Amino acid sequence: MFSFSRTLCYTLLAFVVGAKAVEVDVGVAGSVDSAGGYSPSKSKVAISWYAGWHSTLGFPLSKVSWDKYTHLTYSFAVTTPDVRMLTLNGSNPELLPQFVSQAKQHGVKALVSVGGWTGSRWFSSNVGSPQNRTQFVKTLTDFARQYKLDGLDFDWEYPGRQGIGCNTISGSDSANFLALLQELRQDPLGAKLALSAAVSITPFAGPDGNPMTDVSAFSKVLDWIAIMNYDIWGPWSATVGPNAPLDDSCAAANNQFGSATSAVKSWSGAGMPLDQIVLGVPAYGHSFRVRKADAFVNGTKTLVPFPKFDANDRPAGDSWDDAASVDECGVAQPVGGNIDFWGLIQQGYLNSDGSFKQSVPHSYDNCSQTPYVYNEQNEVMVSFDNAQSFAAKGSFIKSKGLRGFSMWEAGGDSSNILIKSIRKATGFF
Ligand SMILES: *[C@@H]1O[C@H](CO)[C@@H](O)[C@H](O)[C@H]1NC(C)=O
Ligand SMILES: *[C@@H]1O[C@H](CO)[C@@H](O)[C@H](O)[C@H]1NC(C)=O
Ligand SMILES: *[C@@H]1O[C@H](CO)[C@@H](O)[C@H](O)[C@H]1NC(C)=O
Ligand SMILES: *[C@@H]1O[C@H](CO)[C@@H](O)[C@H](O)[C@H]1NC(C)=O
Repeated sequence: MFSFSRTLCYTLLAFVVGAKAVEVDVGVAGSVDSAGGYSPSKSKVAISWYAGWHSTLGFPLSKVSWDKYTHLTYSFAVTTPDVRMLTLNGSNPELLPQFVSQAKQHGVKALVSVGGWTGSRWFSSNVGSPQNRTQFVKTLTDFARQYKLDGLDFDWEYPGRQGIGCNTISGSDSANFLALLQELRQDPLGAKLALSAAVSITPFAGPDGNPMTDVSAFSKVLDWIAIMNYDIWGPWSATVGPNAPLDDSCAAANNQFGSATSAVKSWSGAGMPLDQIVLGVPAYGHSFRVRKADAFVNGTKTLVPFPKFDANDRPAGDSWDDAASVDECGVAQPVGGNIDFWGLIQQGYLNSDGSFKQSVPHSYDNCSQTPYVYNEQNEVMVSFDNAQSFAAKGSFIKSKGLRGFSMWEAGGDSSNILIKSIRKATGFF
């Protein structure tokens, strides 16, 4: 399920618990000083991941709003058991050269994301010894050279923590990952690439499995981290809750599972500078089957916050949702229940301008700063993000002095409603 996507952290959740920016320098990489130290550039970023497999399902390159981004990140190159090889299998490999050339034509930096939910299986062994790291640096730089990339995004889900269920994993993952990045920066091409990491809402796991208390060494080799502040709640949760909470400190104690606010606090507290933190934001939501008796405050059309749902009757999302299938680890998974922002409009939950329909019960949670909608006919409730919640996230990015945002995924938006909202609110673009 969500087979290529960034997410579905059944096991993880147990733990966590400018216009090409005329005024913005779109140069990506920093510089290496005479002593060989890498200084990340600090220019603001507006990023989206581009899911290669959706290019043939309604989101070809011609639909990309290049002028809204400083960087686009093609997803995914996946790790393989052979450290000498990465593969774009499943992500339309033939399209990557066109993606890179079109990005360049538009003055946008082109990155490739390595890993993802299903593509992280072999990270641990690929960085597991000095010999493998040296070879993996060669694999990565050969790949970047072959495709003329401006950078690489590491979406390892997750160093030192199990992700999909059958990843190779070691207590030394985070230390080995750092060693890989340091060696990559010693390479003449690696020194020039933009290097980023998509990360969970808590810092990388240390040898004991707990979040590291000092990640400052990563800030010397990475240009930025993108915090994947989504899938915080989903169909694996006990009740309906926010996919992408901006805050949770204002929620009831038993409804605090992390948020953008807590994540930024954790990462910056562990030594990641605020101006190297990018907030990951979702252009999709999660759906839940909520019986009418549970959905409404008695006798009203007011939605109950955090209602219970029927976990045995998961609704399907939109046409990009993952069908029920057997995953890469051989485990049967139900339908995903993911619905994109465009899917909410297509399925009649929202007006075409992204606003609530008066005829559709809806709410906006002031703590998580995220909206909910409810379809009384099929008893589906969706937690998602809209222009208002993206504006709240953009204001947060601005007020904290973060580097910018990265949206999963470019194709999830509709008429640039989300991207325009967050760009405006950050005040950077
Ligand atoms: C990628 O797909 C090609 C064509 O289907 C196949 O020959 C190759 O073995 C695949 N590579 C990996 C690493 O799965
Ligand atoms: C190094 O990579 C090879 C595959 O390319 C793998 O078989 C081996 O286990 C890796 N070594 C470590 C220590 O992870
Ligand atoms: C609605 O009323 C019934 C009966 O009084 C009660 O059992 C139920 O908990 C109420 N539901 C909500 C959501 O308040
Ligand atoms: C939520 O916040 C808005 C704007 O600050 C305010 O008008 C509204 O009353 C709040 N709603 C609740 C339920 O607190």
